[in-house]
Amino acid sequence: MRKKIVAGNWKMNKNLPEAKGLLADLTAKFAQQPNAEIIVAPTSVNLQFAAETVKGSAIKVAAQNMHQAENGAFTGEISADMLKSIGVETVILGHSERRAYFGETDALLADKVATALKHDMTVIFCFGEELEERKSDKHFAVVESQLKNALFSLDASAWKQIVLAYEPVWAIGTGETASPEQAQEMHAFIRKTIADAVSPAVAEEVSILYGGSVKPANAQEIFAKPDVDGGLIGGASLDAESFAAIGAAI
Ligand code: PGA
Repeated sequence: MRKKIVAGNWKMNKNLPEAKGLLADLTAKFAQQPNAEIIVAPTSVNLQFAAETVKGSAIKVAAQNMHQAENGAFTGEISADMLKSIGVETVILGHSERRAYFGETDALLADKVATALKHDMTVIFCFGEELEERKSDKHFAVVESQLKNALFSLDASAWKQIVLAYEPVWAIGTGETASPEQAQEMHAFIRKTIADAVSPAVAEEVSILYGGSVKPANAQEIFAKPDVDGGLIGGASLDAESFAAIGAAI
């Protein structure tokens, strides 16, 4: 049975006191064992605090990014080893904002994925098409090539550590959501692509999250689709009540 996951990407929001408040509210709201794995991804300066706070709770902590090198002269960057040393075992890679604003390419992401896996971390790998690509009917080809370039050379056994997050760029932070049918159509395509390129067993087991303007009002419909295994939530994860409602919608 593949895992259900609801992950909150806080992006560059919440200073330390705000993060403390949100984590306190979330640990209380998720005190009963939730139906999904609950993950929060605070900014890197608050990761250590967050990792200590959620110990013993149902919540896990993820980083929003990491560098592909082991260590060295990379001013401002954070390594897999550093994350592991503070108890962070999961990292989001390939978010569309990293691709668009920080020039992250599929080739770079393949290196980052390899480094994360070498450190036995779980990767939430994000990908998705832009509006123009959907309008010109290239969305399936774009998604296929993003997956192929970054992930298809992995050994089948490495896929245990991979979670996929399909996030159409036109739906991120815009209030525009892919319809549940559009999400299901793409998730089914992703699963079939993985079945053909890697193996049917890997395709069946890999969790595929949907991301892009998921809110308490639309989460249930989206999560009800058979190939949607949860969500990666941006804006609505910054409020304990709405993130808890989304977590309960699965
Ligand atoms: P959003 O962001 O929920 O604010 O659209 C999703 C994401 O970027 O992961």
